[in-house]
Amino acid sequence: MKRKIAVLPGDGIGKEVAGGAVEILEAVAERFEHEFTFEYGQIGGAAIDATGQPLPDETIELCKSSDAILLGAVGGPKWDSQPTHLRPERGLLKIRKDLNLYANLRPISYFSSLSEASPLKQEIIEDVDFIIVRELTGGLYFGKPSERTIFEGKEAVVDTLFYQKEEMRRIIELSFEIASQRQKKVTSVDKANVLESSRLWRETAEEVAKNYPDVTLEHMLVDNAAMQLIRNPRQFDVVVTENMFGDILSDEASVLTGSLGMLSSASISVDGPSLFEPIHGSAPDIAGKNVANPLATILSAAYMLRLSFGMEKEAEAVEKAVHSVLDSGFRTIDIAGNNTESLSTEEMIAEVKAALLNEVAI
Ligand code: NAD
Ligand code: IPM
Ligand code: MN
Repeated sequence: MKRKIAVLPGDGIGKEVAGGAVEILEAVAERFEHEFTFEYGQIGGAAIDATGQPLPDETIELCKSSDAILLGAVGGPKWDSQPTHLRPERGLLKIRKDLNLYANLRPISYFSSLSEASPLKQEIIEDVDFIIVRELTGGLYFGKPSERTIFEGKEAVVDTLFYQKEEMRRIIELSFEIASQRQKKVTSVDKANVLESSRLWRETAEEVAKNYPDVTLEHMLVDNAAMQLIRNPRQFDVVVTENMFGDILSDEASVLTGSLGMLSSASISVDGPSLFEPIHGSAPDIAGKNVANPLATILSAAYMLRLSFGMEKEAEAVEKAVHSVLDSGFRTIDIAGNNTESLSTEEMIAEVKAALLNEVAI
């Protein structure tokens, strides 16, 4: 099968890990006789340096003409003092909005061979398997006005939390669809004791739930959810929440798996190609050192094979390769613990590739 993939490496470790996922996709193409073509586009700080814009029009055109998009990460201290519209993160927000990427799926599952890597007790993290469904194109990230202002003659600021009910309904509905294929439980996370937006969210969830009689809906306030995530994470199946709550809770949830460097994500579009990226950022503290964990991005590529291309056995082959590499004891520094020797990013990519190609012989 022929497929065109837009690759947007971005900044910092984004470049290191995106290259790894491309190598793995090339190995998939070789093993399963597909034809994948990769076309590179700029986003984030790299795009600002090259074009003056965090998301040039050519990148959007490239994405729209592709079957799927692979993204590394954006951002870094070099651009932190830029005016808001020229920050790398604006490129990421714009691509989400321009491509209608309304739903960000962030699966969290236990890697048995990594139980030592998490600071949490094995009995807490064992067999954890849930998914965070994060609304991605609304809420505080996009509401207007969002600006510095003067209030009663003094310096002030406003950010706006705006949602249309329809934006809530479609993401909540997706979470019920996903739950129908899983353990049939949706936990809707909000702050309905304080926010009007959360009260509409809760009402909408109740309305959607009526159409899914075999799925249980539970509401949870976000502060409690943050605590429950590390107290008893096995209670969750599908967690659905608005944009910013989902951002924060998913970084927290990554600790259950051992590292932020393990968490993949898929951003689903209403009407066009989907985008796949690790949930982590550009990690300026380790960028350029060849030590970043590439597995989150490699698992995001597996997600692409499954969701965008319907290539289930190919996706499973990549996931199996990742598991076998971890089971063999190979570790990057973030999952190595104290005493284990660690591999570089490139060495880890090579191990996954070898495992993937060796599966043929088995
Ligand atoms: P971060 O996710 O980049 O890093 C947080 C911590 O996790 C760091 O200590 C980092 O070294 C570690 N880490 C992250 N990914 C890792 C990996 N694959 N392997 C090993 N360790 C890893 O978050 P931050 O430091 O708060 O943000 C840095 C920059 O990244 C900021 O400019 C931020 O805006 C941006 N950011 C971008 C995205 C994205 O592109 N999707 C996501 C989050 C943050
Ligand atoms: C993420 C990131 C982004 C977000 C930032 C960089 C805009 O943290 O993808 O999780 O908050 O959505
Ligand atoms: Mn985030």
